[in-house]
Amino acid sequence: MFSHAKFLVVALCFNYASTTLIVEAEQNSPAAAASETASSSSVKLDLKTSFLQEEALSTLDDETAALFQFEQQSISLKPRSASGSCKIFPGDAAWPSNSTWSKFNDILGNDALIKTIPLASPCYNGAYYNNATCAALTANWTNSYLHMEDPTSMMSPVYQGLTCQVTTDPTQNCTLGAYPYYAVNVSTVAQVQLAVNFARNANLRLVIKNTGHDFSGKSGGAGALSIWTHNLKEVTYFANYSSSNSSYSGPAFKVGAGVQAFEIYEEAYKRGLVVVGGEGQTVGVMGGYIQGGGHSPLGSIYGMAADQALSMDVVTADGKFLTADFNQNTDLFWALRGGGGSTFGVVTSVTIKAHPDMPVTASTFSFTVGGNITSDNFWAGFRNYLDYFPSLSAQGIYAYWFIIKTTTGPMFLMQPFWAPGKTLDETNALLAPWFAQLAALNITFTPKTVHYDSFYPGWLASFPLEVVEKTHVATGSRLFPKQNWSNKTALDATFNALKTSAQAGLTVIGFIIDPSLKNGGNPDNSVNPAWRNTYAHILQSINWVDGDSAAIQLATRQNFTFGYMQNWRDVSPGSGCYLGESDILEPDFQHTFYGSAYDRLLQIKKAVDPNDVFFAQTAVGSENWQVVTANGLPSGNGRLCRV
Ligand SMILES: Cc1cc2nc3c(=O)[nH]c(=O)nc-3n(C[C@H](O)[C@H](O)[C@H](O)COP(=O)(O)OP(=O)(O)OC[C@H]3O[C@@H](n4cnc5c(N)ncnc54)[C@H](O)[C@@H]3O)c2cc1C
Ligand SMILES: *[C@@H]1O[C@H](CO)[C@@H](O)[C@H](O)[C@H]1NC(C)=O
Ligand SMILES: *[C@@H]1O[C@H](CO)[C@@H](O)[C@H](O)[C@H]1NC(C)=O
Ligand SMILES: *[C@@H]1O[C@H](CO)[C@@H](O)[C@H](O)[C@H]1NC(C)=O
Ligand SMILES: *[C@@H]1O[C@H](CO)[C@@H](O)[C@H](O)[C@H]1NC(C)=O
Ligand SMILES: *[C@@H]1O[C@H](CO)[C@@H](O)[C@H](O)[C@H]1NC(C)=O
Ligand SMILES: *[C@@H]1O[C@H](CO)[C@@H](O)[C@H](O)[C@H]1NC(C)=O
Ligand SMILES: *[C@@H]1O[C@H](CO)[C@@H](O)[C@H](O)[C@H]1NC(C)=O
Ligand SMILES: *[C@@H]1O[C@H](CO)[C@@H](O)[C@H](O)[C@H]1NC(C)=O
Ligand SMILES: *[C@@H]1O[C@H](CO)[C@@H](O)[C@H](O)[C@H]1NC(C)=O
Ligand SMILES: *[C@@H]1O[C@H](CO)[C@@H](O)[C@H](O)[C@H]1NC(C)=O
Ligand SMILES: *[C@@H]1O[C@H](CO)[C@@H](O)[C@H](O)[C@H]1NC(C)=O
Ligand SMILES: *[C@@H]1O[C@H](CO)[C@@H](O)[C@H](O)[C@H]1NC(C)=O
Repeated sequence: MFSHAKFLVVALCFNYASTTLIVEAEQNSPAAAASETASSSSVKLDLKTSFLQEEALSTLDDETAALFQFEQQSISLKPRSASGSCKIFPGDAAWPSNSTWSKFNDILGNDALIKTIPLASPCYNGAYYNNATCAALTANWTNSYLHMEDPTSMMSPVYQGLTCQVTTDPTQNCTLGAYPYYAVNVSTVAQVQLAVNFARNANLRLVIKNTGHDFSGKSGGAGALSIWTHNLKEVTYFANYSSSNSSYSGPAFKVGAGVQAFEIYEEAYKRGLVVVGGEGQTVGVMGGYIQGGGHSPLGSIYGMAADQALSMDVVTADGKFLTADFNQNTDLFWALRGGGGSTFGVVTSVTIKAHPDMPVTASTFSFTVGGNITSDNFWAGFRNYLDYFPSLSAQGIYAYWFIIKTTTGPMFLMQPFWAPGKTLDETNALLAPWFAQLAALNITFTPKTVHYDSFYPGWLASFPLEVVEKTHVATGSRLFPKQNWSNKTALDATFNALKTSAQAGLTVIGFIIDPSLKNGGNPDNSVNPAWRNTYAHILQSINWVDGDSAAIQLATRQNFTFGYMQNWRDVSPGSGCYLGESDILEPDFQHTFYGSAYDRLLQIKKAVDPNDVFFAQTAVGSENWQVVTANGLPSGNGRLCRV
């Protein structure tokens, strides 16, 4: 099914900020392959500009070579599995010895192997204790910029197991929890290949961390080896990229897997362009985001992020490096465009479409129950708002709104109403009918509405830097189908489901978005089909209290998953939700996250990764595995075993 190129021969031709089309070596051309040969097991391969070659491995001693060999080679390894059905765990007899890890570090080069030291270690007694460092970490702990720079930190610590948060009590214990045991700070494709080969040959749990934003902590896993893609920052610009089978011809960027929204938006801006990325400032664009679909401030105009992909470079479970696009490895390409991260391979770069820059108007406002605003009027005003979702999304609008509990009652917060391509007057005109209704309900406020000549400065000024590291929250989401706007009865029922959650004190966070393409149909990729039939992606979150027992946390989660979330499912049967912002306990996640794409995705998973080298909770094929945690709470903090 997959036309694997005769691996190890594609040239790495990233040329930062180049303005011309970069010539890539033909597959099978040995031109740019590493040529250094090795005569001992501690040799450093020259990996700066090359992909891993079979020949390089063949010069290693047998024992070392066996650790790093590609899957296709017939090698006889000692059985390394502890119990046969679990991935190896630190402490198991089969866990690689210190000298093997040290060999691995040697062959990687650049001291790329990092033994995990939890980011908050300076807050705990022991070798890393440092009160001043702890204070600095504490001051920035909810800032995503801090965690993205760390090889293993995760921004949803609930799924790390909360075993080493910042604290003022240094006598507490800090343990690894679901932080991986080692991480490889990759800067070359060859290092990715070595890590995949090593993990597969040694039966290690393998995870991939890009930024660590994943809502379910899927960048971590206890006892794992991690591939940290953060430093794959190359960006190449193509003024006129041609993709024969996609009928796309125009500007494009080839973007390294570690590039984040704030970086690629700026690159595009400098050239009078925009790309489809997220609203979140520090979210990676080419990792979990685009591979899981990716919603965007430009989503109601250009569709999902995954729709922009023209080509992807990927290291597969067998250790091979290949290109997946419209001509080659087409099933893999289909799966990587929506089927979720950490499932089909390690994506090292993605080539995406770029579009002309555009002006944008953003409006921010809020209103709260209290003063002149009665609860009834508040909810009537919110109900009025829902009526406009179809017409607003048809105008390209993306609105990021919240209902938050305050001491006086619920608050509606628009942050922002985002109107790409619209002038100030046009934006005011779009909001005017709803604002008139609000005024009649005694809901008045002064919106802050600003016009920007370009997307990037507008985005930077308008979207909040979201708080991360919440320690007592569970979140879920739903894509509400267009039919729920087809008559008053249906929309009233939808409204009631949202109101019930908000009135119970849950936080409701919504996006107006319609990422179905207006002209010419939707691309054939694995994005959850529910995304093509919606006007709104809406999340809700429930809180417990820090320190609550596992039993209380579980009960709260049960209420959430089978209570508040079920209310939402009941009004939207057959729809689904966005896997990138979802409930880790979502029942029937297969159809809710992937819809009708699931069966084909599973087939592709079995073909490209038959032995499950890659795993993440709720990923395609993950139903064959479970993470057994000591306290029964869902997290990555436990051994990974076959079901
Ligand atoms: C503050 C915040 C804002 C957000 N804003 C948006 C938004 O605007 N739009 C939106 O659609 N989503 C948004 N999200 C959700 C986001 O898309 C997901 O959390 C996504 O998984 C993040 O991907 P990442 O690569 O940055 O993060 P990570 O947590 O590092 O990785 C996520 C998953 O992808 C896997 N992965 C990462 N890199 C690779 C790779 N190169 N190859 C294969 N697998 C890989 C990881 O193993 C993991 O399973 C937001 C999340 C947060 C916390
Ligand atoms: C291996 O290294 C770790 C520290 O990284 C150390 O704690 C352990 O004792 C070492 N094991 C052996 C067998 O030397
Ligand atoms: C550590 O720093 C905090 C302030 O950041 C201070 O309150 C505390 O007394 C310090 N503790 C020690 C042991 O120095
Ligand atoms: C911590 O935050 C301050 C500002 O609040 C910033 O100047 C500093 O760079 C941050 N440090 C890190 C590591 O993010
Ligand atoms: C830390 O861990 C040790 C060993 O598991 C345990 O005995 C001790 O009670 C723990 N300390 C705290 C403060 O939890
Ligand atoms: C990771 O590697 C890069 C080089 O690609 C280096 O600049 C950086 O300091 C390394 N980071 C860590 C935490 O080792
Ligand atoms: C881009 O390339 C295509 C063919 O590959 C050509 O038809 C088109 O004119 C080119 N556009 C520009 C702006 O150069
Ligand atoms: C895509 O184009 C290539 C030639 O560039 C052709 O061989 C292939 O069959 C095409 N595939 C599809 C799906 O059209
Ligand atoms: C409440 O309404 C009155 C009369 O319209 C107005 O004067 C007052 O400013 C309003 N108060 C608030 C808090 O908006
Ligand atoms: C708005 O406030 C005025 C003055 O308090 C009141 O008379 C009117 O009934 C209110 N309107 C609504 C719809 O609540
Ligand atoms: C309203 O729309 C829903 C969803 O499309 C549909 O099931 C229902 O029959 C409609 N009801 C009426 C009264 O038209
Ligand atoms: C919402 O739309 C779906 C169709 O996708 C329909 O089955 C459902 O009944 C609608 N909900 C309500 C409350 O009408
Ligand atoms: C679960 O929901 C029920 C009914 O709303 C409520 O009585 C109970 O306190 C909730 N339990 C938890 C742990 O939140």
